[in-house]
Amino acid sequence: MRQICFLALLGFPLLAHANDPQVDDFGSTQDGTAVEIYTLKSSTGLTAKIMTRGATLVQLHVPDKDGKSEDVILGWDDVAGYESEDNQYFGCSTGRVCNRIALGKFSLEGKEYSLATNNEPNHLHGGAERSLDKVVWKAKGYSNDKGQGVRFTYVSPDGEEGYPGELKITVTYFVPADANRLTISYKATTDKATPVNLTNHAYFNLSGAGSDTVLDHMLQLNADTYTPTDETLIPTGTIDSVEGTPLDFRKIKKIGARIEKLTNTGALGYDHNFVLNPKPNDDSPFNLAAVLRDPASGRTLRISTDQPGIQFYSGNFLKGQKGKSGKTYAHRSAVCLETQHFPDSVNHENFPSTILKPGEEFKSSTQLSFGIIKPKAE
Ligand code: GAL
Repeated sequence: MRQICFLALLGFPLLAHANDPQVDDFGSTQDGTAVEIYTLKSSTGLTAKIMTRGATLVQLHVPDKDGKSEDVILGWDDVAGYESEDNQYFGCSTGRVCNRIALGKFSLEGKEYSLATNNEPNHLHGGAERSLDKVVWKAKGYSNDKGQGVRFTYVSPDGEEGYPGELKITVTYFVPADANRLTISYKATTDKATPVNLTNHAYFNLSGAGSDTVLDHMLQLNADTYTPTDETLIPTGTIDSVEGTPLDFRKIKKIGARIEKLTNTGALGYDHNFVLNPKPNDDSPFNLAAVLRDPASGRTLRISTDQPGIQFYSGNFLKGQKGKSGKTYAHRSAVCLETQHFPDSVNHENFPSTILKPGEEFKSSTQLSFGIIKPKAE
C-alpha cells in the first residue's frame, strides 16, 4: 500500500512500478523505532541491501571469477549489532561532516562552534549521539527502465550535534539492471551556512566479509599527492607528493607490501586522505579514484567519484569483533575507500571548501563498479 502514490488519492489508479525494490522489516532500534531494509538487484548478479538506520549498506553480494556470489562488506545481521560498541561506522552514511574536525572546533561567519570530541581530542564522523549513521531515515524505493533505487531522506535540525542550520539530506542508492554497479548520490540544502562532507563507510573484503586480512588485495589510487597529518590524524595543511613514500599507489600495489612502515605512526597503517588527480576533460562527472583487486576471488572494484579526495583506511582499528553469521572481523581484514572532501577542511582555507550556504545545493556521487580480473591471454 505504501507504494501507491498520492495521485491514487486523487482517483488515478497509479500503482507502484512492478520492478520496485523489495522492502522488509529489519526489526527496531533500542528506542523502538521500526527499521526497514531495501533490496536492490541487477540481473547480472549484484544484490545490495540498505537499511533505514543510518541509510546503511548492510549487504553487498557480488560474483567471483567462478560466478559465486559472496557478501563483500562487513556488518551485522540485526540492528542491535549496528547499535553495539563494536560498530565502527560499518556501511553507514557518514556525516554531517565525515572524518575529523580538529578539537571539534571551527568558526564560521564570525561565530565559534564547538562539537563533540568523540575521537579524543577531535570530532569524528559527525558526532556522538545524532550523527547521520545513528538516526533512522525515511525511505522510498523506486524503479525505472534503467534499474532499481532507494532514496533516503533526513532533516537534521538546526544545532543537531552542534552544527548550524537545518540540513535537509537525501542519499540515493541505485543499481542498474544490466551491470554490477552501485551508485551512491548525496544532496543537501541548508538554511544557514554550515560545513557538509558526506560519504559512505563500507568496509570491503573482496574475498567475502570475515575472510583473512586484505593485505594481499591489490590497490591503485589515482593520486599523486595526499594530505599529511599530525599524530591525531588532523591534516597539517600541506599537500605532499606520494613519491618515495608507502603511499605511492599510482601503480597497482599489494596493500601489505609497505604497510608495516606505517604501523608505528598515529594512523597505525593506512588511514590517509589522498588528493585525487584532476578529472580528465570529458563529459562524465566521474573521475576514477581507486581500483581494488583480490587475486584470491578474482573480484575487482573500481571507484569513481566527483569528490576531490578519498580516505584509504586499512581497518587498523578492527579488533576481532563478531559480525554477520558469527564471522570474525580481524585487524586489517577490510578496507574503507571513502570518497569525500579533505579532513578538517573547515579549518583549512587552502582545501576545497565544504561550506554549504542557503540557496545552494550540495551534490555528490560515487560509483562502485564490480568485475572480475580478466584471465591473462595464453
Ligand atoms: C575511518 C577513519 C579511521 C577510523 C574509522 C572508524 O574513516 O579514517 O581513523 O576512525 O573511520 O573506526
